[in-house]
Amino acid sequence: MAELKSHNFCGTKRSAPDDSEDIKNDSKKSTAMISSLLEDPAAAVANTRHEFGEHGGVNMSIEASATFTVMEPETMRRMFAGELGPDRDFFIYSRHFNPTVLNLSRQMAALEGTAAAYCTASGMSAIASVLLQLLASGDHVVASRTLYGGTHALLAHFLPRTSNITTSFVDIGNLKEVEKEIVEGKTKVLYFESVSNPTLAVADIPELCRIGREKGLTVVVDNTFAPMVLSPARLGADVVVHSISKFISGGADIIAGAVCGPAKLVNSMMDLRQGSLMLLGPTMNAKVAFELSERIPHLSLRMKEHCRRASVFAKRMRKAGLKVIYPGLPDHPHHHLMKSLANPEYGFGGMLCIDMETEERANKLMNLLQNTTQFGFIAVSLGYYETLMSCSGSSTSSEMSGQEKELAGISPGLVRMSIGYMGTLEQKWSQFEKALAKVQDMGLSISNN
Ligand SMILES: Cc1ncc(COP(=O)(O)O)c(C=O)c1O
Repeated sequence: MAELKSHNFCGTKRSAPDDSEDIKNDSKKSTAMISSLLEDPAAAVANTRHEFGEHGGVNMSIEASATFTVMEPETMRRMFAGELGPDRDFFIYSRHFNPTVLNLSRQMAALEGTAAAYCTASGMSAIASVLLQLLASGDHVVASRTLYGGTHALLAHFLPRTSNITTSFVDIGNLKEVEKEIVEGKTKVLYFESVSNPTLAVADIPELCRIGREKGLTVVVDNTFAPMVLSPARLGADVVVHSISKFISGGADIIAGAVCGPAKLVNSMMDLRQGSLMLLGPTMNAKVAFELSERIPHLSLRMKEHCRRASVFAKRMRKAGLKVIYPGLPDHPHHHLMKSLANPEYGFGGMLCIDMETEERANKLMNLLQNTTQFGFIAVSLGYYETLMSCSGSSTSSEMSGQEKELAGISPGLVRMSIGYMGTLEQKWSQFEKALAKVQDMGLSISNN
């Protein structure tokens, strides 16, 4: 297959190019690639090539075609032989590369500071596809024991059954334990979340990547909880995966994902004979890619406001006597680590948890917050402009056994909140305070002490 050389592609021709075009394209590509690997994710996103519409529109046109025509039959043969590809604006079929999906993928690569990226139909398909590409039957994964329930189920149940790929789950905060579980010659991937779902543990990305490098593993990091805030690839990770369905989309209206990593990996996932994206086909629709491309430019602003409000609420909730888990609170075990790893100006993320200890108390609080004071919605997912809250143990982590949840630190009364930015901060806080007062009246409050 034609290789994807970086996430910047030039040229709009449809006839096969002569050699002088190669040189021109290569020089443009390398310049553009250096600028988009900037340290600051917002600056890097702003530096990606801006695609204009077919008629000069400020927004790109949507390439809503399943298939692409060529001027000469010989071009088709050259595309299938891998001589012509998307880096020269030659496209075959949209389960393979599509120009609009590629534009979003360029933005994702810039956001995460990787050489390439490709977007998928969901976060789970991004995770499953990259793991299936990196691993073969008999291989082994070392993974964090605190992961999104779906990812945990994929590693604990689905991959052993279907592919003979096994996983050891570890406390990634214990680097010795991580090293101990790595089996030389068998362990191929180290997998964790930058900020864990739902417990908000922060991974020591540089140290974990050092171990991965020393042992020859591919380090895959799920950065769904902290886009813009943390940049795992800039801190040493090989691959960053995302559920775009969350903060990056911001609208709770789209399911989507991305794999960001080296061009060699993304190319391998597109290979006609061996590629997991090409052969399993979790394809993103071009219309969806267009929608999402229009939201990336304001992701930085949205994240800053999610983070600012989460920080203010966490402090006030703590002051009100609640058991709050938020990396921005000085007594969070990873407060200093997060401070040292986070990109400037984003703070500590837009997620916080309140531990109500029992599911009954958690449900009472959420019921009041939604149905009496309109603070937010009882719903899974995150990154929406409204606050979303769910009791993780009985929802997004319900795939885990009681013992697995206990080991992961998921209390039965843990209420995970994705803090929104609708309305004013004080308006929302007064709604929270009213619900809390009612909880206290019922004698259901939890003391932080
Ligand atoms: C951290 C994390 N990763 C991956 C996923 C899966 O993403 P999607 O729902 O887009 O498939 C989720 C979903 O909740 C998640 O929270």
